[in-house]
Amino acid sequence: MALHALALLLSISAGLVLVSAQPSPRVQERISAAIAAAKGGSVNYTAFVNPFIGTDNYGDVCPGASVPFGMAKFTTDMTGYAPAGYITDSTQTVRGLSPLHDSGTGSSLGTYGNFEIMPLLCPGGFDTCTTRLQDRERYRKNNTDDAYPGYFALTLNNSIKMEATSTRRAGLERFTFPKGSGTPYFVLDLANDLPASFAGGTLDIDPEAGRITIGGYWGSSFGPGRYNYQAFACYDLLNNGAQKLGEYGVWTGDSYGLDAKGLGLTHLNLSVNLIGAPYQSGALFSYLDEPEEITIRVGVSFRSAEQACANAETEVGSASFEDIVSASQALWNEKLSRVEIDLAGTPPNVTEMLYSSLYRSFLTPNNATDETQGVFADTTSFYFDSLYCSWDTFRTFYPLLALHSPLEFAQIVDNYIDGYRKMGWMPECRANNLPGWTQGGSSGDVIVAHFAVTYHDEAQALGIDLQELYDAQVADAQVNPPEWNTLGRQVNVYKEYGYVPFAVLDTSSTGRQTREGSRTLEYAFEDFGLRQVAQLLNKTEDEAYYTNRSLWYRNVWDPTVVSDGFKGFMQKRYPNGTFSYQNPINCSPQDNVTTECSLQGDNVNGFYESSSWEYSWFAPHDTAYLITLMGGNQTFVNRLNHFFDAGYYLAGNEPSFQTPIGYHYANRPTLSVDRVRQVVFENFDITPAGIPGNDDQAAMATLLSFHLLGLYPVPSSTELLILSPFVPKYTIHNTYLNVSTTVTVKNYDPTSIQYPIPSGASAYVKSVTVNGQATESRCHFDFYDTFKVGGEIVIELTSNKTEVDSCAGSLPQSISTGGFASAR
Ligand SMILES: *[C@@H]1O[C@H](CO)[C@@H](O)[C@H](O)[C@H]1NC(C)=O
Ligand SMILES: *[C@@H]1O[C@H](CO)[C@@H](O)[C@H](O)[C@H]1NC(C)=O
Ligand SMILES: *[C@@H]1O[C@H](CO)[C@@H](O)[C@H](O)[C@H]1NC(C)=O
Ligand SMILES: *[C@@H]1O[C@H](CO)[C@@H](O)[C@H](O)[C@H]1NC(C)=O
Ligand SMILES: *[C@@H]1O[C@H](CO)[C@@H](O)[C@H](O)[C@H]1NC(C)=O
Ligand SMILES: *[C@@H]1O[C@H](CO)[C@@H](O)[C@H](O)[C@H]1NC(C)=O
Ligand SMILES: *[C@@H]1O[C@H](CO)[C@@H](O)[C@H](O)[C@H]1NC(C)=O
Ligand SMILES: *[C@@H]1O[C@H](CO)[C@@H](O)[C@H](O)[C@H]1NC(C)=O
Ligand SMILES: *[C@@H]1O[C@H](CO)[C@@H](O)[C@H](O)[C@H]1NC(C)=O
Ligand SMILES: *[C@@H]1O[C@H](CO)[C@@H](O)[C@H](O)[C@H]1NC(C)=O
Ligand SMILES: *[C@@H]1O[C@H](CO)[C@@H](O)[C@H](O)[C@H]1NC(C)=O
Ligand SMILES: *[C@@H]1O[C@H](CO)[C@@H](O)[C@H](O)[C@H]1NC(C)=O
Repeated sequence: MALHALALLLSISAGLVLVSAQPSPRVQERISAAIAAAKGGSVNYTAFVNPFIGTDNYGDVCPGASVPFGMAKFTTDMTGYAPAGYITDSTQTVRGLSPLHDSGTGSSLGTYGNFEIMPLLCPGGFDTCTTRLQDRERYRKNNTDDAYPGYFALTLNNSIKMEATSTRRAGLERFTFPKGSGTPYFVLDLANDLPASFAGGTLDIDPEAGRITIGGYWGSSFGPGRYNYQAFACYDLLNNGAQKLGEYGVWTGDSYGLDAKGLGLTHLNLSVNLIGAPYQSGALFSYLDEPEEITIRVGVSFRSAEQACANAETEVGSASFEDIVSASQALWNEKLSRVEIDLAGTPPNVTEMLYSSLYRSFLTPNNATDETQGVFADTTSFYFDSLYCSWDTFRTFYPLLALHSPLEFAQIVDNYIDGYRKMGWMPECRANNLPGWTQGGSSGDVIVAHFAVTYHDEAQALGIDLQELYDAQVADAQVNPPEWNTLGRQVNVYKEYGYVPFAVLDTSSTGRQTREGSRTLEYAFEDFGLRQVAQLLNKTEDEAYYTNRSLWYRNVWDPTVVSDGFKGFMQKRYPNGTFSYQNPINCSPQDNVTTECSLQGDNVNGFYESSSWEYSWFAPHDTAYLITLMGGNQTFVNRLNHFFDAGYYLAGNEPSFQTPIGYHYANRPTLSVDRVRQVVFENFDITPAGIPGNDDQAAMATLLSFHLLGLYPVPSSTELLILSPFVPKYTIHNTYLNVSTTVTVKNYDPTSIQYPIPSGASAYVKSVTVNGQATESRCHFDFYDTFKVGGEIVIELTSNKTEVDSCAGSLPQSISTGGFASAR
């Protein structure tokens, strides 16, 4: 999901350059120094991570303090378009520091940002404090924002420094006031969150205990407005008795002149404000003795205020700020060390891009196990919030997790299956613990299929019942929900027509009647996921049935449409079989038309966040047949070249992910190598604007990781395409399987790590050996022969492109040419 993709394109085409005075230049200096100093032995991988990559240019990355998969992510909330709370744009102001955020989501209003705290100086006393949102917002000091894994800091323009560190469901905030500032005050927010969705709640101050508890209801950031979730926080103000509370009370305010404060009052109980924006409200308190440093402990919970306090007690207790930072860094280092690289031989920017991407690949989804609400309240399964969205993450996020982290993958799969148990369908875009909008259908089918095909032998030990996993897929593929905007698919008409028809009379289910072309393509690929699991489980009839359905992508291929001289495009189609012509360029970066391309009602194009030019490449399980449809290998290659050269490739959205490697299927693997270099160097770097639009819960980060490692996954399968690594050597450790796989790149040439690849630079794959044996093809190998068993892979490169511009063996698999014939 990347709702802002088109805004991004507009800003680029307008030549707009965002001026940024954040973060502190020290962040990059520190990372560069750490990379330069790194040697073998015990490596501090956290030092290579730049949490600010993706905090500008609509990347929507949260640079806040978080542990791996942390439910708590502490960062500041800024004005302007800032769905993750923080943005670098120094023309925006800070409204407070808060403990709950998502990373990389494109919700236009933002997500979470509840329970903000803001330090204040109120020389005129309690009643003069600027508690309301607009009164308290403040610029930052330029060039001072700072972060590394487990730590976030921001200094306001009045020189008050705010720092945070965290555990899974709690954290510590430290505020440093300039010498002689006087009495420090704090405003704590009950109602406000980023989307301004407050639906009622309470706040209580216990002055003796020095504790403030908050609880309430808020609305979804990417789902039906009538759904609410509950959240709770517990603020402990006394730093284990080292700090003394001064004044305290409550306040309410609005933008119509209400600005009322109640010194000594301890309770607020406010309902939803049905006429519109919520009341602003919260607590206000100060400390005695004019301390310069204040530490506040924060716990959060989705169950109760009591549990929020308990989380702070058990996860933080009386630990110091430094203790919590170190504990978080240790967790991060363990995750990041699962991928080791030859640090001395790798260009520093590649090291930084890779570890920053791996960092984000472990940042989400948010582990809210034991924090469940609604129908999940009593679950005994693992539970993750912010599956935001499966349509984004199935392509590269879960395939990357499969290489090194089966335990975490299994927990998330358990959570998907539990969604089916509790709601009837697997989650698609869970946002704020609520069902969010579906995009391509039920992409969870692909995610669980990828787990099943890669870890079927370990599934039981990992707590996954493959039969139940399949049952969950079948529910998605067969049971039409009454309303498929948030869960499941419109399978009734899909099964009747063999495609999702445009303008169909559906008498038994509702949903937004758009995206018929891309929904058909995604439904068909989801069916391939069922086919793969059916094959694994020896369900021969089901395998045949879902194989057939997986080929229904062909039913939206209109062979008559011509664009730029190329013939045949995916198009939406009426129930009577007639296609509804839409210009294939619509919703590409070259589209000058102003209709929107996401879930908006004016997206009449038939495709989601992509053009027909781009989605016409989407049949990852059957590209050989697409080549036939498009007129053969040479036309396919010319068409792919034209797609990139004409500017139809849309880097910021996920349907583009598998386009640069398409040449492999036409037996031209060196062209994929060139194209991946181009995609990386034109769209990614180490700056805050260094990703092309929303990270989409690390979809972009994991795409980049695969590109840098010289691999590309085919989801729902164990096939990996072989490309040209950007690093001379790397090892992937799979601690669950207790195997390590080292990829050594023979003839690696650092001068090839640019675009275009200079002639004479060795960058093209000549041969591949796995544990001493030459692979049958230099274009692909299988997970079961490589990362599953461990050992040594050697990828030999050459500069002679003409010599190696073929697979010298089999092409990557396609159903129509007998591929995926048996399960591994
Ligand atoms: C901070 O940086 C911005 C952008 O470069 C600039 O417009 C602004 O004047 C700077 N503020 C200060 C206080 O230097
Ligand atoms: C590792 O790097 C981080 C981030 O730069 C730093 O804060 C931390 O102190 C380092 N840890 C060790 C053990 O050197
Ligand atoms: C700090 O920011 C506030 C509001 O954002 C602004 O009114 C004030 O002038 C700024 N102060 C300084 C010293 O830049
Ligand atoms: C808040 O007020 C509502 C009525 O408006 C009441 O039902 C509820 O019990 C109150 N909650 C608390 C915690 O005081
Ligand atoms: C999620 O949290 C639970 C409970 O603490 C823990 O057992 C599990 O390992 C965590 N999983 C991940 C992926 O962080
Ligand atoms: C395959 O799907 C088509 C619809 O595209 C249907 O007509 C046909 O009966 C199916 N075949 C099998 C064997 O299920
Ligand atoms: C499926 O059949 C294969 C080959 O006969 C067998 O090895 C495998 O155990 C079977 N799997 C299941 C889940 O029955
Ligand atoms: C199919 O339906 C569309 C929309 O109602 C209509 O424009 C078209 O003419 C119909 N095609 C045929 C062959 O009847
Ligand atoms: C968009 O505008 C450009 C420049 O005016 C033009 O070259 C291009 O053909 C237009 N694209 C479409 C799809 O109309
Ligand atoms: C494309 O090339 C491959 C390998 O050379 C060949 O097997 C395949 O038949 C060709 N496809 C078409 C449609 O000609
Ligand atoms: C490294 O990244 C910086 C920032 O994006 C860029 O200016 C520089 O050219 C890059 N260096 C290389 C060798 O790519
Ligand atoms: C590249 O390989 C081709 C085919 O093997 C050969 O004809 C050509 O001379 C080689 N080029 C160079 C520069 O070595």
